[in-house]
This record gives sequence, C-alpha cells and structure tokens, in this order.
Amino acid sequence: MLRPPFRAPENSRIVVQMGSQPALSVDGVVKSFGAVHAVDEATFDVEVGSLTCLIGPNGAGKSTLLNCVAGFLRHDSGRILLGADDVSPWPSDRRARAGLATVFQTATPVGGLDVLGNAMVGCHAWTRHGFATGILRTPGQRREEKEIREAADEALELVGLGPLAHRSATTLPFGQLRLLAIARVLAQRPRVLLLDEPVAGLRAAEKARMREVFLDLKARGFTQILVEHDMQFVGAVADRVLVLDRGKLIADGPPSVIRHDARVIAAYLGTATV
Ligand SMILES: Nc1ncnc2c1ncn2[C@@H]1O[C@H](COP(=O)(O)OP(=O)(O)O)[C@@H](O)[C@H]1O
Ligand SMILES: [Mg+2]
Repeated sequence: MLRPPFRAPENSRIVVQMGSQPALSVDGVVKSFGAVHAVDEATFDVEVGSLTCLIGPNGAGKSTLLNCVAGFLRHDSGRILLGADDVSPWPSDRRARAGLATVFQTATPVGGLDVLGNAMVGCHAWTRHGFATGILRTPGQRREEKEIREAADEALELVGLGPLAHRSATTLPFGQLRLLAIARVLAQRPRVLLLDEPVAGLRAAEKARMREVFLDLKARGFTQILVEHDMQFVGAVADRVLVLDRGKLIADGPPSVIRHDARVIAAYLGTATV
C-alpha cells in the first residue's frame, strides 16, 4: 500500500474527529429534469473517513447527484443528512459552512494574489472578522489573521504546494491549480469533500500526486466522495464504489467486488478492470 506522504502532526488543525454516525446520508433522493430521471431514488450512507468513488456511464446522473448533495441543485424529494442534520432545505453556502465542501475542477485563481493568498480565501467559511485592512485592528482580529495564515499554510503543505506559497497563483500549471483548489477547500475546515472528476485531464505524475493527497486526507479522517472515470485510479484509492446507471444505484461495494459484478460489467465496465 502506498504510504501517505504526510503524517498529521500532533497539533494539526487539519484533522477530522471521528463520530459514530455516518458522515453523510442520502435517503431516497430523486432529481428529474423534465422527463429525464437523472437521479432516481438514490439511498446510501457514507462512513466517516471513507473514500467513496461514484462511477457509471456518461449521463448516469453522477454530477447531478453530487450537485444535489452540495446544494447547487435542489432535489425533488428524499433527504440529505450531514451527520445528524437534515440539510435538504439548506442553500449550498450553509452546507459548506457546516463542513460539506465542493472542490471545483476549474477553480480559477484570484489574480493579483499569490498561492498563499488564494488558499486563504477558503478561510472565509469560518472567520468572524474577515480580512482586516488598515491599522485599527483589534487583538481579536490580529489573532484571527494569524489563524487564517496558519490554516492556509497547513493546507498548502498538505497538497505539497508549500514551497510555492509566494508564487503568483496565475502562473501555476494546470495540475498544481487543481491542488490549489483542494488547498482552498481544506482551508475552509471541511469534514466531507465532494470532487467531480478530480483527475480528469491530468498527466500520470499529476494523477499519482493526487492519489497521494486523497490517501493522506483519508488517513487524517476526511470523508471523500469522488466521481471518477479512471478505473485504475478508483481501484487504487476507493474503499467503496457506488455504481449509477440511468439514475439508479445498481451496485455498491469494495472495488474487488464491483469489478466482478455482472450488472456493472454489462452497464459500464465492459472489459475494463477496476
Ligand atoms: N441542467 C440540466 N438540464 C437538463 N438535463 C440535465 C441537466 N443536467 C443533467 N441533465 C441530464 O441528466 C442526466 C444525468 O446527467 P449528469 O448528472 O451530468 O450525468 P453524469 O455526470 O453521470 O455524466 C443526463 O441525461 C443529462 O442530460
Ligand atoms: Mg458528470
């Protein structure tokens, strides 16, 4: 097994406490677009600290399901629970503040800010004072600024961008921008991460780096849900695979079981191996 490249230091803030109930529960969720049943009665629980991959053919409803969980789309019926909270009526920003964070594939860096500044943007999710300007800062504001800086530093270290903290973010290559998008979300202090095709378009070395980051986040107790097409990648990172086909969950299990599931092979995998 690949060893995570970073061990969470004793005083790390980027560690998630374990709880006994599921991190996330999707209960009978339905989402239709006109006559298209994009998500059709999806029900599953996600364990704290697990990495779940959502797979299925194009148009199966993977992105729709993820967007319903994040709150970017309002589902038609069913419930979505974050821990014990039914977040179904909550808008996406409230879900994010409660720890349900989305990593965008195309996070555009804020121009004029360096890599560190871009990671600090994520801290808006929990700051009380916001970024203070001017000289009339209270001790509370100064303390919070220090906390913001430390959280962003640690998030950058975690994805391996620490040495580039003072580079202009817009000069980063594609693969590193993806890592920066993750760092920004980690600075939000999330518990559950949602990622839609996070390694699409990456080169082999960048994918390998991403795999290490996901395994490291798992070791730290984060819960992750990834939509992924690359079956080799899925086999290397997933504890569990959920298979969607035409909006319905048709299989649920570890990669070693999914790769032999006749319905999955027929619907999706063909001769590919997980
Ligand atoms: N905003 C939308 N309006 C209408 N139909 C949509 C919309 N988003 C997705 N769909 C349809 O819902 C189905 C599932 O799409 P999607 O969730 O994007 O699939 P996947 O991510 O698995 O490829 C498809 O038939 C797609 O055409
Ligand atoms: Mg999609």
